[in-house]
Amino acid sequence: MSIHFKRRRLMAPDIAARKGGEPIVALTSYHAHTAAIADNHCDFLLVGDSLGMVMHGYESTVPVPLDLMIMHGRAVVRGSNKALVVVDMPFGTYEESPPIAFRNAARVMKETDCGAVKLEGGRRMAETVRYLVDRGIPVMAHIGLTPQSVNVLGGFKTQGRTVDQWHAIEEDARLVAEAGAFAVVLEALTAPLAERITKAIPVPTIGIGASPGCDGQILVMEDMLGLSPSVPKFVKKFGAIGAAIDRAIGAYADEVRARTFPGPEHTYSLKTDEAERQPSPQRATKKPKTPST
Ligand code: KIV
Repeated sequence: MSIHFKRRRLMAPDIAARKGGEPIVALTSYHAHTAAIADNHCDFLLVGDSLGMVMHGYESTVPVPLDLMIMHGRAVVRGSNKALVVVDMPFGTYEESPPIAFRNAARVMKETDCGAVKLEGGRRMAETVRYLVDRGIPVMAHIGLTPQSVNVLGGFKTQGRTVDQWHAIEEDARLVAEAGAFAVVLEALTAPLAERITKAIPVPTIGIGASPGCDGQILVMEDMLGLSPSVPKFVKKFGAIGAAIDRAIGAYADEVRARTFPGPEHTYSLKTDEAERQPSPQRATKKPKTPST
């Protein structure tokens, strides 16, 4: 018996095979309609835990629950059919032990049908990466600025600004790659360090605020579309969606207030000949006030 997959999405090994080749294009995505658009252009879509900040108004990614990731993960998988979908493991769901990480990552894979998970950490997560990969879960690692550690780092700070910090970060990259990660996100790393890591490890590096020399790039979709109110220095705004939304909602509000919306083309008319059969309009009567006791 042969099994035919309905669709052929990119899978983790396809991304891994792009090391040193054509740049890998990625964006975050949190809901079905934008996933469908991004799917036409991207190699993978990341359901990032940045959704906590971008969509749910949290000040960091720390409070994001697993169920929220699963809900958005499902939407992105439903909206796309070519790109690999990677879902972030949120803070507190994988750090404690490899078996706990496996239980939660397996839930993510089963309930969203995504193709891989991402987790933050280098050396300290290498054993967990190995444990998950050995049990069938493709893992993308994330090093450099790891936003879930914002409370330890003391803010969202660029990493590797001085050369004496380089060795530890290079080791992070090497160890997660050796542990079986199929790609490594490098966030907010100085360009020369990101380039050294890209040359040193055998799997693709995906830069966000790192270097054009990385094997691929990712940005938060709302940031690059110009929807987020404030963005880090490394974001280029490729669109001005926030301003477009503001204009559209302002025009809607004006038309509602002027009673020019809805127009005849937006309202339903009666069937022919039904107009004469309309009952005479009822006068609205003011409700008598109930006397207060
Ligand atoms: O959560 C996220 O959006 C991410 C990207 C910044 C890589 O991890």
